[in-house]
Amino acid sequence: MRIAVVGAGYVGLVTAACFAELENDVVCVDIDKEKIKNLNSNIVPIYEPGLEEFVARNKERQKLKFTDDLRKAIAKSEIVFICVGTPPKENGEADLSYVEGVARAIAEVMSSYKVIVEKSTVPVETGEKVAKAIKSYNSHNVDFDVVSNPEFLREGSAVKDFMQPDRIVVGCESERAKQIMAELYKPLKAPIIFTDIKSAEIIKHASNSFLATKISFINAIANICELAGADVGKVAEGMGYDKRISRAFLNAGIGYGGFCFPKDAEAFIRIAEKFGYDFKLLKSVQEINKAQRKHFVNKIEKALWVVKGKTIAILGLSFKPDTDDMRFAPSIDIINQLQSEGAKIKAYDPAAMEKAKSVLRDITYCNNPYEAAKDADALAIVTEWNEFKNLDFKKIKSLMKHPLIVDGRDIYNPESLKKEGFAYISIGRKDVF
Ligand code: UDX
Ligand code: UDX
Repeated sequence: MRIAVVGAGYVGLVTAACFAELENDVVCVDIDKEKIKNLNSNIVPIYEPGLEEFVARNKERQKLKFTDDLRKAIAKSEIVFICVGTPPKENGEADLSYVEGVARAIAEVMSSYKVIVEKSTVPVETGEKVAKAIKSYNSHNVDFDVVSNPEFLREGSAVKDFMQPDRIVVGCESERAKQIMAELYKPLKAPIIFTDIKSAEIIKHASNSFLATKISFINAIANICELAGADVGKVAEGMGYDKRISRAFLNAGIGYGGFCFPKDAEAFIRIAEKFGYDFKLLKSVQEINKAQRKHFVNKIEKALWVVKGKTIAILGLSFKPDTDDMRFAPSIDIINQLQSEGAKIKAYDPAAMEKAKSVLRDITYCNNPYEAAKDADALAIVTEWNEFKNLDFKKIKSLMKHPLIVDGRDIYNPESLKKEGFAYISIGRKDVF
């Protein structure tokens, strides 16, 4: 099929490359000319396993093209995916101005039937607004359908999540659009759930909010475990065997970040409010998540007694491993809080340092964990990159001023670090000195 994907960000680029891999003819459009220029020179602006290969291969065989000419791309396509940003406004609501702009552009150039697919995470009722926007600018009065097809891609595994989805959700109101979407997704051989548009839009917000709720729940349990002298890792393991609960998303730590959970939970709270429902549960999820970062900083302060003038090595800056994304990363709050207490920060991250430099200043960026650990009074684990799991602890201990590790992601075994001569503090477990 002939597809236009509008927005070459974390979602749009993966969507375009994967549909091209599935033998469709895809044009990916972006307003950012620099981004398009780079993509046309095979420079992929985001770090996603498997994405570079898909982009290169499908450009090579002419199944994937990049342009900044929105109208031309839309005119040549039968399906248009809207994957532009929906960033939070001041009041937490999703800013839909980019979505509206694309809808207007589609209406102005449309001269034959099209399926317009909203893939960006949007509040319920956006589908109706997109349809209204197209109708009011649709000078040729051409037939079209709007479809909601939310994405469930996790950063760091987005290509895999696209090509092997648990489910595909399609919200549409016409048989014609349903047939086209069924045909498009047929090669993936995954369960497709067809719903009305509003339900599809809510499935996305409800799914992300539920996952965020699981995380804040286990972090609340971690706080209780710390006070009771229990081990949250064991609790999560014991809970996880219950298939109704499942072990996934029960990793206690410094909480969630990224461009989706914080933004989507906030937007969902606002949407509910607009309908007259006070989403107290989700507000508590957000509060617990925010408090977890402060709790982690308090642990460092308690262990060091005085933070002012001390050197703290931070391992991991991205909001999670296997990505370079710094958006809403917990490391930003944690480092800002430590710097406001007068700490000197050294940091290392395998992928996110370039992006971190534009949001975190007055930091010594190091080339590896050992350089960061040198002369540090404390070593703090903020993102659980695999390479931090097998450090040479004898070397780390010899480099540090003070053998103290504060683990925000519980990646180490307390007893083995104690044997290595470290004071070790983690989340939801007993401290060992
Ligand atoms: C986007 C949505 O913001 C998010 O809500 C949804 O869950 C997934 O899609 P993401 O792809 O991470 O998330 O956004 P971002 O990385 O900001 O990429 C958006 C792209 O759209 C940018 O490259 C931007 O240049 C482009 N864009 C934005 C346009 O091409 N036209 C516009 O009018 C606005
Ligand atoms: C999430 C959803 O998983 C995905 O379905 C949706 O499309 C986009 O948002 P993403 O934000 O990329 O994906 O990453 P995810 O792996 O879900 O982690 C989100 C945050 O939760 C990260 O900061 C991670 O560190 C944190 N997390 C995750 C925990 O703190 N504990 C967990 O057990 C799992």
